[in-house]
Amino acid sequence: MKPRNKSRSKPRRKPRRKTKRRGGNIHTRPHIDDKSAFIEYVDHSDFTVFANGSTGVILKGVIRDVKHSHYYYIKTGLPVKELIFKLCLIHDDAAAANDEDPPKWKLSSIKMPYIHTSAFNQEIIIQNKLAQATIADPICPVIVYSSIYTTELSAKLLEQISKNEKMSVIKQYMTAALSSTVYKTVKPSGYRRGAATVAVPFDSKPRLGIIAMEYVDSTKFVRLDQLFKSEIDALSSKMKNYVNYASALKDAKYNISQLTALGDLPDDLEYELEDSRRNVDTYTRELAQLKPARGQIFSTELVKLRNMARLVILEMAHKTGYTHGDYHFGNILVSAKPQPHIFRLHTEKTHIPFPDFDDLEKVILIDFGYSNKIPHDIFSILDPILSHVYDNVDTIDFDDFKQRISESIYLVHNVSRNDESHLASFPDKYYQWFTGDYECSLCPDHPYFVRESGISDDEYAMMLDILRSRKSRSSMASNPPIGEASNPPIKLYTPTV
Ligand SMILES: Nc1ncnc2c1ncn2[C@@H]1O[C@H](COP(=O)(O)OP(=O)(O)O)[C@@H](O)[C@H]1O
Ligand SMILES: [Mg+2]
Repeated sequence: MKPRNKSRSKPRRKPRRKTKRRGGNIHTRPHIDDKSAFIEYVDHSDFTVFANGSTGVILKGVIRDVKHSHYYYIKTGLPVKELIFKLCLIHDDAAAANDEDPPKWKLSSIKMPYIHTSAFNQEIIIQNKLAQATIADPICPVIVYSSIYTTELSAKLLEQISKNEKMSVIKQYMTAALSSTVYKTVKPSGYRRGAATVAVPFDSKPRLGIIAMEYVDSTKFVRLDQLFKSEIDALSSKMKNYVNYASALKDAKYNISQLTALGDLPDDLEYELEDSRRNVDTYTRELAQLKPARGQIFSTELVKLRNMARLVILEMAHKTGYTHGDYHFGNILVSAKPQPHIFRLHTEKTHIPFPDFDDLEKVILIDFGYSNKIPHDIFSILDPILSHVYDNVDTIDFDDFKQRISESIYLVHNVSRNDESHLASFPDKYYQWFTGDYECSLCPDHPYFVRESGISDDEYAMMLDILRSRKSRSSMASNPPIGEASNPPIKLYTPTV
């Protein structure tokens, strides 16, 4: 036996010191308050326009030097280099104005609505609530800061974020909107149809609302509508054949009816009739082969993601008491590789001990602008139905599961959005996928994509599988690796609205 080389044996671990020096690219940061952390991030970032939202501008702020970022990713402990900024203009008279034609501000050729303070605050509170409620594995971007700025402070902030040319255009339009008077159309007392309305200036002062949140990395995440669209595009060549066979079948059938109407036929026409009959058989067979059965239109992967999204929407309702309210596929981001989530550190210590599940799919909800509180009487029915499902995932009977999920889906779907409109009153393509009352919410009008009613058993079975595998995952997550358990608690940003 080889003698053991003492000098090469594993060094003993030094006892932990309170003030630990860190190597690598994680810098020890002194404690800093939310506002200062935000300002420092803005001061040291470059901004670009990321998307044009329907209620504001979505910017991406990339930090130039990570030492000015006080935000860290939960899983890796690495500093956050990219954040999303949602900017909108707030006017408290906005909601009081005519609903059908709310006053808008001009952003180049686009018209953006003014938002009421309460709507702006509500969106933040709900998103924050959802992040807190799903803290081990958040199902929405984590908000790191939010604020409403007066005109002077807005000017300073807009100055800081508009260094490049494209951004200066945004600054220009927002500055103009912030300093202009807005008029609402009012019907004078005793108003009769057809009579003149009057324009009354808004009492409220315009302000700039800003939400800074986790950037859901577009190299890893994609919007569900984009995924569906690419599968639909892939189907389109097959659909061309479908159209060809369908019209040939129609022609052959017409030919038969014309020839039959002639009665006794000469030999050559008799052959033609036989030929048409054979064609009818062939085209019918080809069509049957081309037309996919229900559940075969989209890949299993895509159908799975759609079912994961259904479960995430139910989870939100159950954990927060709010419905998302605007769950069209454009507000659902999906990934095969989950993004680590952002936390503000509350001490200089770092690194949060969650195991990595980087090979798993993930669904993230964004845009809580239409979220609404579930009325108490509805929630008191929904809560026990779903609690029973979550508590008995491993043992629940399939029919019982199906019934409970179906009931929950309808309860959530029937809660109106916060603008009081009902989800079922919108065109099917927006929200009906949730109840399964339309096979494909994004499909073109074509017999290939038939309207279906309800969710298939296969999809319910998929949902049960998803919940079961997630449960085994979360029981792993609640047992942090030994030796990491003494890490400090994490602090999430809490808005003061
Ligand atoms: N946190 C985020 N990470 C990545 N992309 C985002 C994020 N928030 C918004 N987006 C992108 O910006 C678009 C508009 O944002 P959204 O919050 O849906 O605004 P709106 O209320 O105007 O629809 C989204 O469809 C998405 O593509
Ligand atoms: Mg949206």
